[in-house]
Order: sequence, then C-alpha cells, then structure tokens
Amino acid sequence: MSRVLRSVVTGVGGYLPERVVTNAELSTRVDTTDEWIRERTGIRQRYQAADDQPVSDLAVEAARRALVAAGRTPADVDLIIVATTTPDLTFPATAAIVQRKLGCPIGIAFDVQAVCSGFVYALSVADGFVARNRSKCALVIGAETMTRLMDWNDRTTCVLFGDGAGAVVLEPGEGEGTTADRGLLGFALRADGTKQDLLYVDGGVSTNRQTGYLRMQGNQVFRHAVVNISEAVTAAAADAGIEVSSVDWFIPHQANQRILEGVAKRLGIDETKVISTVAEHANTSAASIPLAMAHAVNDGRIKPGQLLLLEAMGGGLTWGACVLRL
Ligand code: ACO
Repeated sequence: MSRVLRSVVTGVGGYLPERVVTNAELSTRVDTTDEWIRERTGIRQRYQAADDQPVSDLAVEAARRALVAAGRTPADVDLIIVATTTPDLTFPATAAIVQRKLGCPIGIAFDVQAVCSGFVYALSVADGFVARNRSKCALVIGAETMTRLMDWNDRTTCVLFGDGAGAVVLEPGEGEGTTADRGLLGFALRADGTKQDLLYVDGGVSTNRQTGYLRMQGNQVFRHAVVNISEAVTAAAADAGIEVSSVDWFIPHQANQRILEGVAKRLGIDETKVISTVAEHANTSAASIPLAMAHAVNDGRIKPGQLLLLEAMGGGLTWGACVLRL
C-alpha cells in the first residue's frame, strides 16, 4: 500500500451561550406550545447569544476547547475556516476576526457560506489544504447566531433555531490509503439553487441592504430532506469505500428529530448509533454537527479510531455528507 496524507481530526470542542430559552418561554411570545414543538421537532430548548456577543466570540470559545483537546495552542494554527451564515460583519470574514481574537500568527483565514451544510463543505475545503501538507494545523469551525435572523412573530420558524459553535482541529497524518486510516475518507457535496424559495433570508447587502429574516416552507424542506440526505450519504460512503452499515456513529445536522430518524431508517442505521442533541440546542445551522460531535466525544461515546458519518442539509438548497475515522 502506498503512503498517503490524510486530514486527521485531533481535537473537538463545542460552546453554547449562557442564556437558555425554553419552549415554555417561547409560548409566552408566540402562539405555540411546548407540546407542539416537542412533537414536531424534538426540540426542548435553545440557547441565545447575549446582545453584545457576536458569533466570533462563540467561535473563539469552541476553537479554544478544540485546541486544548488536540494539545495545540493558537500559535500552531495556520488555517482557519469558519462556516457561518450569521457573520459578525459583512466583511472581514469572521475567520479573520477569530484569528485576531485567538492571537494566531499570520496564516490563511476565510469563511464558507453553505448555511446548515456549511460545516461539511468547510471540512472538504480544509481537506484540500491539510491533505496536501499546505496546512499543519487547521481550525474548522461552525458558528452561528441564528436567533438574530428570526422573525419573532413567525411561529413557524422562530421556535426551530438557536445559537452555538463547534470546532475541530485538523492535522496531516500518514495513512496506508485504506479505510483503516485515521482522517477524512470521503465526501459528497450537493447544491440545487432552483429550490431557493424553500429556505432563504429576505435581506442582503446587494439586494436591500438589510439583514433580513429567515423564511422557510418547512414542510417542503422536510419532503426533500430525507431523500436528498440519504443519496449524499450513500455517495460519501462509496467515495470513502465503506459500507454505511459499518459506521460506528451517525452524526446528522441537528434540525429536527423526525428528519434524523427518517434518514437513519431509510439508510438502515440502527437508532443506537445516531447522535442526537437537537432537543438541547435546536437547529444551530453550521454549528450543529461539531456541537453534537463534541458532546458525544466528551461523554465518552465516540472514541478514537471509530468510523463517523456526518450529514447536513440547508438553505440553497445545499446538502452533503462526510465519512471520517477519528
Ligand atoms: N406552534 C403551533 N403550531 C404551529 C407552529 C408552532 N410553532 N408552527 C406551525 N404551526 C401550525 C401551522 O400553522 C399549521 O397549522 P394549520 O394546519 O392550521 O395551517 C400546522 O402547524 C402544520 O404546519 P406544517 O408546516 O405542515 O407542520 P409540519 O408538521 O411540517 O412541521 C416543521 C413544521 C417542524 C417546520 C417541519 O416541517 C420541519 O421540521 N421542516 C424541516 C425544517 C428543517 O429541517 N430545516 C433544515 C434546514 S434549516 C437551514 O438550512 C437554515
């Protein structure tokens, strides 16, 4: 077997802001109930960043925790990619702000915008640097303040989203070119711009100079989700050269418990292998996969050497999947 360079996840970290917003609290603001939200989505609560807490602050905290887990310091970091749809500013990129706040040396820093699929897209982009030995220590961060995009009069969307951040450290590692290697093993990324109207924000710099509010035809998004995600997962598994049935853990984008279960069922994945944290933090868009991963690494379920399958779908529509061995 020939030696190959792989992008290996060496540390994972997550951060949730202090303030918890329960379903009961939301039911005092809009015409909804705890029962409706739990039954349709599995969500019990979400976190909300403080008014003076921009998304870069959440990203920095998650990144610090991931660096500690990897045994690295900000001085080691030469590449930062932040997946976000709620940046601090229109520019500079949130990644550059994170670089400054962490005190990392001059390196590469930019954002990836693929909404809820952003973390999977960003991992794939980072792989292009790390597995070519162009980065020795990369931070890939999913960070969002989705509550800033909510129309608090729209009960069909405002109950679904929350704020948070998750991060991984990627470092190059030599492998044998087999599925036993540690590192990122396979991807499938997809976008279908014709489905924009199903999920979008009705504001933007070059449209109306507004931030805008998130608009979603939830039941239409739901219809596409299970089919689209299942196809991408199957394609990513084929790209990695593994069987879906051989994965140790399935870590989906945490949007809705019914979608998580629908995808797992369609793919024949046992429910005991599904990491679900949506009840605790709702849909945190690009942050949800690394948050769920950090949670299950920290509670000891996910262990080094195990095979993980990540997937997401979001605005665009975009969707994708990634297979990696920790
Ligand atoms: N509380 C009470 N009733 C509500 C609420 C609420 N919060 N929201 C909607 N309803 C009502 C509707 O008004 C409707 O009432 P009607 O029948 O009198 O018209 C009824 O509930 C059913 O509405 P649906 O939209 O058909 O409900 P559905 O079962 O589809 O559940 C949900 C809605 C939870 C949004 C679901 O469609 C969903 O999860 N969709 C996927 C969303 C998603 O995963 N997005 C991921 C990407 S997010 C991103 O990329 C940023």
